Amino acid sequence: MKKEHVQHCQFSVWYPIFKQHTIKSVILPLPQDVIDYFLDDGTLVVPGSHHAAQQTHINGDLDGEEDIQWSDDETTTTVTAPDFPEFTAQVLEAINALGGRVFPKLNWSAPRDANWIALNSSLQCRSLSEIFLLFKSSDFITRDLTQPFVHCSDQDSPDPNISFELVLRKWSELIPGGEFRCFVKENKLIAISQRDYTQYYPHILKQQDSILHAILDFFNQRIQHAFLDEDFVLDVYRDSQGRVWLIDLNPFGEVTDSLLFSWEELRCGGGVGQQQEGPDFRYTTSEVTVQPSPCLSYRIPRDFADLSTGEDAYKLIDFLKLKKSQEEESSDEDVDAAQAH
Ligand SMILES: Nc1ncnc2c1ncn2[C@@H]1O[C@H](COP(=O)(O)OP(=O)(O)OP(=O)(O)O)[C@@H](O)[C@H]1O
Ligand SMILES: [Mg+2]
Repeated sequence: MKKEHVQHCQFSVWYPIFKQHTIKSVILPLPQDVIDYFLDDGTLVVPGSHHAAQQTHINGDLDGEEDIQWSDDETTTTVTAPDFPEFTAQVLEAINALGGRVFPKLNWSAPRDANWIALNSSLQCRSLSEIFLLFKSSDFITRDLTQPFVHCSDQDSPDPNISFELVLRKWSELIPGGEFRCFVKENKLIAISQRDYTQYYPHILKQQDSILHAILDFFNQRIQHAFLDEDFVLDVYRDSQGRVWLIDLNPFGEVTDSLLFSWEELRCGGGVGQQQEGPDFRYTTSEVTVQPSPCLSYRIPRDFADLSTGEDAYKLIDFLKLKKSQEEESSDEDVDAAQAH
C-alpha cells in the first residue's frame, strides 16, 4: 500500500465516482482554525451560540465577549470558546439539507471510538457541537489529521498534499447484520467478511448464497474497473429489499481492519479467492465465537458513564448507599478497635 492509494481513498475522491450507489453526503473544506481546535488537547469547550448566550448571562454584559469566567476565592479561570461563524453556517445548512440528522467523518475516518461520549451513545449528530464533541474525543480523527500515511510502504517519498474535509452523510439506520467488507485485489473480489464479526447473525448463515450473489452482482456492475486503483477494500450494505449500497472505500492494507481474514492471507491469496469458486465469504457461525466489540477498549466503564451522566438513577442511589455503608463499617471498625484496647 502506497501513499497514493491512501490518497485515492479519501471521501472526496471516491464519492463523485460512486455517488449514485452510496448515501447522500456533503463535503465541506475544514478551515485551518477548526483543524487546530480539533488537535488542541486543552480544555474541551464546545463552540456555539448556546455558549455565547450562557456567558452573556454569567457576565451580565451584552457586548458579545467570548470569554466565560468562573471565579472562586483565589483563581480565575478564563476559557475561550472558539467561534467559527462562517463554517458553522455551512455545517448547519448541510445538516438541514441532509434531513436534520447526520453521520460525520473526516477524509477517511469516522469517530467510531468516541461514540460512548455522546449523550445518545451514537454517532448521530444534529448540531455542530455534537460533531465537535465526537471529533475532539476521537483518536481515529486525530490519526486522520496527524498520520494519514501510517503503514504505507513508501515512507521516504514526500507526503501527498491533503486538504482536510468534513464529510456529513445523511443519517441512515443501518442494521449491523447487513454490513459486509469486501476485499478487491487486481480488480477481482477475492474475499468478503461480515463487518460486525463480533456478533452471530443467523440470517447470514441462512441467506449466504443470496448475499454473496447480491454483493458479486453489485461489484461486477457498479464497482469493478471504475475506481482509480485495482486493489482496495469496499464496505457495502445489503438492505431489507436485497439492494446493495456502497458505504465506504478503504485502502488495501494494514490501516484497514481485515476482520475475519488476516492481511497475510489476503495479500498472498493463500486459500482466498480461487477465481473459479468466487470470493471467500466468512461470517460468524455461532454464538460460541462471539467476541467483545473492538471499540470497547476506548470506552470508560458503563457504570461510571451512568453515574456521571445521572442516566441510571438507581445506580446512583446504590452507589450512595454503598458509600454510606462503607463509611458506617469503617466507623464500626473504629469502635471495635477502641473497645479492644
Ligand atoms: N450515513 C450513516 N448513517 C448511520 N450510520 C452510518 C452511516 N455511515 C456509516 N454508518 C455506520 O458507521 C460505521 C462506520 O462507518 P464508516 O465505515 O464510514 O467509518 P470508518 O471510520 O471509515 O470505519 P473503518 O475504520 O472501519 O473503515 C458503519 O459500519 C455503519 O455501521
Ligand atoms: Mg472506512
